[in-house]
Amino acid sequence: MKEGTFGCSRYLFFFIFFFLFGILTMSTAMSATEILNPVKDNTIYEGQRGGGNPDNFEDNSCGAGTNIFAGNTNDGFARRALLKFDISASIPVGSTIDRVVLTAQVNRERDGDGRTMTMHTLDRDWGEGTVDCDSNAGGGQGDTANPGDATWLNSKFQQIGWNTPGGDFAAASASTMVANGQSEVATWDSNVAGNESLVGNVQAWLDTPASNNGWIMLGNESVLKTARRFYSREGVTPPLLTVDFTPPASTSACCFVSGDCSILTPTECTTQGGTTDASDSCSPNPCPQPVGACCNTDESCSDSIARDICEADGGTFEGSGVACTTAQANCGLEPFVDALPIPPALTPSGTRPDGVEQYTITVQTATQQLHSQLPPTSDLWTYNGAYPSFTIEARVGEPIEVTYINSLPLTHPFQVDECAHGPNAFSNSARISTHLHGGHVPARFDGQPEYTILPGETDIYEYPNDQLPATMWYHDHALGITRLNVYAGMAGFYLLRDDFEDSLGLPDGEYEIPIAIQDRKFNPDGSLSYPTSFVNGFYGDKTLANGKVWPFLNVKKGKYRLRFLNGSQAREYTLRLENLADDSQVIPFNLIGTDLGLISAPNPLSTIHMTPAERLDVIVDFTGFAAGTEIILRNDDLQAPRLFNVMKFIVTDETGFTAAIPTTLRSVTAIPEGEATTTRWFSLEQVSETCAGNEWVVRTLDGPLGTPTGDELWDDLSDFPQLGKTEIWEFENPSSMMHPMHIHLVAFQVLSRSVLDTATPLLLQPHEINSWKDVVRVGPGERVRVIARFEDYPGRFPYHCHILDHEDHEMMRQFQTVNDPANCDNDGFCEAGEDAWNCSNDCAQVGGAFCGNGLCEIGDGEDCLTCAVDC
Ligand code: C2O
Ligand code: CU
Ligand code: CU
Repeated sequence: MKEGTFGCSRYLFFFIFFFLFGILTMSTAMSATEILNPVKDNTIYEGQRGGGNPDNFEDNSCGAGTNIFAGNTNDGFARRALLKFDISASIPVGSTIDRVVLTAQVNRERDGDGRTMTMHTLDRDWGEGTVDCDSNAGGGQGDTANPGDATWLNSKFQQIGWNTPGGDFAAASASTMVANGQSEVATWDSNVAGNESLVGNVQAWLDTPASNNGWIMLGNESVLKTARRFYSREGVTPPLLTVDFTPPASTSACCFVSGDCSILTPTECTTQGGTTDASDSCSPNPCPQPVGACCNTDESCSDSIARDICEADGGTFEGSGVACTTAQANCGLEPFVDALPIPPALTPSGTRPDGVEQYTITVQTATQQLHSQLPPTSDLWTYNGAYPSFTIEARVGEPIEVTYINSLPLTHPFQVDECAHGPNAFSNSARISTHLHGGHVPARFDGQPEYTILPGETDIYEYPNDQLPATMWYHDHALGITRLNVYAGMAGFYLLRDDFEDSLGLPDGEYEIPIAIQDRKFNPDGSLSYPTSFVNGFYGDKTLANGKVWPFLNVKKGKYRLRFLNGSQAREYTLRLENLADDSQVIPFNLIGTDLGLISAPNPLSTIHMTPAERLDVIVDFTGFAAGTEIILRNDDLQAPRLFNVMKFIVTDETGFTAAIPTTLRSVTAIPEGEATTTRWFSLEQVSETCAGNEWVVRTLDGPLGTPTGDELWDDLSDFPQLGKTEIWEFENPSSMMHPMHIHLVAFQVLSRSVLDTATPLLLQPHEINSWKDVVRVGPGERVRVIARFEDYPGRFPYHCHILDHEDHEMMRQFQTVNDPANCDNDGFCEAGEDAWNCSNDCAQVGGAFCGNGLCEIGDGEDCLTCAVDC
């Protein structure tokens, strides 16, 4: 056995030997040779010392002449030649330099002895210039330099002096003996012992072209008459640099999405966004595209699709060779397999002695499966364990109390970028502050971004419900981490109703469905993915309706009241209903309400547009459809990655709500422009900032297209609307992104939209006309004007862009509503009708605290949890 093994090994040894030999032979890349002409040359001249020629040779140059010189004149003055070759222009990046041979043709000598000439790399750039000195002693004396020419004293005459007259250069890289004779060729060869550094010089110039300042040639400057004259690059036999090199390993065809093909190394190819092809030839060009999984716009996944075809159809190419099965996290989730969740109403946890219903909301982590083909998502942060949260049902005139309990773990599931405005001010990032979006509430209960509570803390809010019925929503608003908290799941509906609305006979019960649309992105393990540092707007690759990716809803033949919320971070939607069996059929959304209430009369629309935080209340009638009809809620917005689907309605054969929709709803009366006593101008801009590089801000202007006043940050408090007064706010957007601007406390009406520069009027969207709003889209290059009455509650309230990434930058300011200063009696006490801001003399005397203005002013000695009743 052993013998046999040995014998066998011997053959194996020879086999391996020849095998390796073969590989080595084959893989020795062919070396290549390039012969380069100089790209510039010049001679610099040492000045006369003592008598003799009165010329100041140190100011002379001869870049355009046909000769160059090196060595000492008869009088002992040096001439030095400058030479530069452009290596990277001819030799491929990544090559290895093997041998360098520099030659120069002598055309005149001083004496018969051989003379040593050395080459040194220069430390700084120099000028060749335009001086042709051939008529002046055959070039041996040069001629007066022009600005920019290299001279003995200056690398660029009159501009940059050498540190050492005669040039700044390194120790000799090479030397050679230049023999006597008119036709001798001087040769500096890296293969000659002592000249090896030439290879390193050229390699460095190839790898770092900016370091290439060429060589300076020196003769023996310790004795007289050592000069030699050579042809310059302008002469009949110019200096030549012969470079032997080995090209970079394994370049191959690199194919780009455009179909363009280039020969590149694999690294170059991938960094430029191409795909390396196995072949090393770019024929054909355009090249065949890589094939792999394609995520189609209808959310299906197709295998083996060429990238260009995939992308031309609006799909997302998952990578060369990737299969749909492995692309599952980003693509391939089957649409419309999960039922649309309908958030249940939150049940009261008690009743206060004064009859106010009490609710308890515990902010806590939760695990939910957001699509049946996704692993459960375990990093959700939710209200009462549900994403989206339970719906709060409230009635006008009946205040409710909500106790918020922060039961979160200490650390955030997402990386907290401390370049945001806020999170760095607190050591604990699991802060929360709950805002009732659309709520007309005292500042104390508005979810002030700085008024956060930490894990283990509790806060009690009271919502007066003293406003028109509306589709509101509650979501987190903690300073600097709102985008992360909302993304993690902290959002829910708050539906406010009244008897009048009930009397309209709109679809209700099972026929009234709130639908929150949000986009998300998942990691393969089902966890949520969010950029670790600031982005200009997060756009997920999945649409969720009420917390499920692309759900379906079985609907009866009849009318449904759908209360849509765009609860996304930054994404807008253009919604359309498409009958799968007949995509030319128009199925209208019958608009009945907007952000903060019903509109005057139903308005049938074929598409509706929703910017972040907007709500649209619509009636969709499924009456005429055959059982089994599938109607897709499409999104026609083009924002990448495109999300074509939202959800699907499947018509059943049961009959549902068939009563007529009233032709008039609740009349909305336009606020007359003349009622406004103040106009404010704001410009929506991105400015530079040291931490993140830049940040979004809302700048106060002193007029339309006016001068910024300098107020642009959260802490720049400059807007004090007086309660009981009406104001016009104008948002100017000179930036290239749209900004959905939201104002707390008020219900506004949109007055107009126009082109910022030309004032050309633009159409309002149907839902922006004569309706109650709290957020409005301000498109790039637009001016949008809104009008609002400031009423009831003194204190500070935010106004901001509702792209949550912008809000967490600095695109959020605060205004402070104040009472009429005329009400101040300055008697030293805060009384009803007075407010701390305008009557500060009064309040300063009340225990030194600015109490009762709804603000938490710890610095003034207030106790934040009780300060609403302090004074
Ligand atoms: Cu929905 Cu201040 O926000
Ligand atoms: Cu709000
Ligand atoms: Cu914005």
